[in-house]
Amino acid sequence: MKPLTITSRLEVYESPEELPQDVQELLQAAIEARESAYAPYSSFKVGAALLLENNEVVIGSNQENASYPSGLCAERTAVYAAGAKYPDVPVLKLVVTAKSMRHQVVSPVPPCGACRQALVEYEVKQDEPMEVYFTGETGKVVKADSVKDLLPLVFDNSCL
Ligand code: THU
Repeated sequence: MKPLTITSRLEVYESPEELPQDVQELLQAAIEARESAYAPYSSFKVGAALLLENNEVVIGSNQENASYPSGLCAERTAVYAAGAKYPDVPVLKLVVTAKSMRHQVVSPVPPCGACRQALVEYEVKQDEPMEVYFTGETGKVVKADSVKDLLPLVFDNSCL
């Protein structure tokens, strides 16, 4: 037996003001996108904004359904919209923000496991890292340089 240690390096920004200007603008787009969330069941609104290599910004928000599993997270709504509109343009950055109608979200909200899997598919496809920033309604912002930092031991096409 040989132990395998997995490490990920993340960066923590104390507040959005510490972020580079382009990421602050992307966060603003994600905050606006959050308002378009359709979240009558969870009351938890998530906004996502992607910056593409062609400088376009593509947004997404969570879209829920009375048949719960038919709903979709903000990150996947965004990355699938980008894939549909700009199929060959790499996604450089993703910013995610969340707000609850029930309490203040003061801790950073990371993409769920299913979204990490969906995001890494595009990172592998574009062969360029996608930076991921996530935050709550207020407070710290966490940055990963690559989706793989959020999803070690990735399952991708090389496994097939
Ligand atoms: N949600 C997202 O949009 N992104 C995530 O990464 C976590 C969860 C949504 C799904 C659902 O509409 C609500 O948040 C509560 O789980």
